[in-house]
Amino acid sequence: MGWVHRRRDHGGVIFVDLRDRVGLAQVVFNPEVNPEIHGEAHRIRSEYVLALKGTVRARPPDMENPSMKTGDVEVMVDELEILNESRTPPFVLDTDAEISENLRLKYRYLDLRRQAIQQNLILRSRAAAETRNYLQKNGFVEIETPFLTKSTPEGARDYLVPSRVNPGMFFALPQSPQIFKQLLMVSGFDKYYQIVKCFRDEDLRADRQPEFTQIDIEMSFVSEDDIISINEGLMAHIFQTVLGKELRLPFPRITYNEAIERYGKDNPDTRFTLELRDLTDILENSDFMVFSEIVGRGGVIKAIKVEDGKRLSRKDLDDLNNYVMTYGAKGISWARVKEKDWTSPIFKFLSPTEITEINKKMEAEEGDVIFIVADTPSIVHDTLGNLRIHLAEKLNLIDPSVFAFTWITEFPMFDYSDREKRYIATHHPFTSPMEEDLALLETDPANVRARAYDLVLNGSEIGGGSIRIHKQDVQSLIFKALGLTDEEARTKFGFLLDALEYGTPPHGGIAFGFDRIIMLMTGVESIRDVIAFPKTQRATCLLTDAPSAVSIEQLMELSLKIV
Ligand code: AMO
Repeated sequence: MGWVHRRRDHGGVIFVDLRDRVGLAQVVFNPEVNPEIHGEAHRIRSEYVLALKGTVRARPPDMENPSMKTGDVEVMVDELEILNESRTPPFVLDTDAEISENLRLKYRYLDLRRQAIQQNLILRSRAAAETRNYLQKNGFVEIETPFLTKSTPEGARDYLVPSRVNPGMFFALPQSPQIFKQLLMVSGFDKYYQIVKCFRDEDLRADRQPEFTQIDIEMSFVSEDDIISINEGLMAHIFQTVLGKELRLPFPRITYNEAIERYGKDNPDTRFTLELRDLTDILENSDFMVFSEIVGRGGVIKAIKVEDGKRLSRKDLDDLNNYVMTYGAKGISWARVKEKDWTSPIFKFLSPTEITEINKKMEAEEGDVIFIVADTPSIVHDTLGNLRIHLAEKLNLIDPSVFAFTWITEFPMFDYSDREKRYIATHHPFTSPMEEDLALLETDPANVRARAYDLVLNGSEIGGGSIRIHKQDVQSLIFKALGLTDEEARTKFGFLLDALEYGTPPHGGIAFGFDRIIMLMTGVESIRDVIAFPKTQRATCLLTDAPSAVSIEQLMELSLKIV
């Protein structure tokens, strides 16, 4: 039984490729063998649902199709029942041709018939099963936590659900199970996990959905090393069982500061080098005022180097000026390194010593191209961090078969929000500061480091977590640093503060973006291709037309009025 994938009428004999979840089989209706069934087969069209019985036989010599898994055989049909007909689908399902995504999402049930996307979901299912296998074997307990709950602290906007029985009151859908998993540690479960939906009302991108899935994990009596090693084991297990790929453990670890210094980003793609080098010392007193003035104002000068720069034309180099402006840089300087000097618009402004020093710092050889950006540290890092990726893609420096994992550790505890004029938690407010930085909490919050870590795969943040605060007094200090009054902290997280006073064990955990992991495992460009029924970039569902208006009666029942 299955669907008609393709039908070909070869002047008499009718061939149908019949499709189901596991693949295709060619079935043959031959007028000379069975004229009655052949007559019925004339009605068959694409996507009809058939039940048939027949004899499997080897295809005649020279008729094999090596591009098809079952291409050596065919089914000679003895009995046929057309179980259902189908309207002509709005797009063809039997090719890899590009189809508009809006059309695919509107007719998602048809889109999901296509092999490629079906394979993504099947791989996803196996990865979820292997996640459970591994965690169960390691003594973890899967526990569900509520969806109708109170605002959680991940920093995005909440999706709210009005309560009918408590007029004017709202539940928030959880941005993560963060608070509940910590409470489960207070309860003594010591190894918790859950594969769980999270809801965040935030601006969407190719790797973000308003509802997405986490592998959520929490453990008691652990250090960073315990959490890192059990989760490296989890990744190795999933990649080995699902993709047959052996990962080299342990994964490299670098601190947040080192990631920014070397790659310009806290989610570096480490499949290629093109690392940033600091030229500030060399150029701070340069006669070339453009550079020295920027340094004088607290700016920095950094550079990356492309080997074998012949692959970049003069136009490529000049075009980069527009590229870097999208990241706020005023421009970029380039230099083609020659045996003695440079070909470069800034060559004549720099002294021979400066040129030599830069070449040395960049380990540059004849033929290389150096790119230099001078600006505030954040603009320089942002610009060169993205330029690295842009050039790696342009010059084909990325091996798509490589999975490069990196742990990023020692994140800053706080980010300063210019909009809110206060510090906000970089990870979330229950993250423990590093012991040795506790003293800085009140004097220098910007330099307090957190016991937080992210796991990055091929430049994508696939997970993040931290060791938590397990003492009430430290938690209060953090709330204070975040500008929360005691009263605000009580209203928001009072139940957690109370729980911390009843024998809370030291604990920590992590959550992985499951959709992102599957996206990288399958090699697709968009998170939507690994989710059965995803939302558009505008957070709508084209299939069901959600969100949609509701009736006055429903609003009244909820004591709501649209303004
Ligand atoms: P965090 O907010 O870093 O941590 O989320 C964990 C991981 O979830 C993925 N992710 C997303 N994936 C798709 N769409 C989104 N909108 C989206 N937002 C996040 C990312 C991210 O690394 N409670 C903490 C974890 C902890 O401390 O244990 C948390 O949720 O891959």
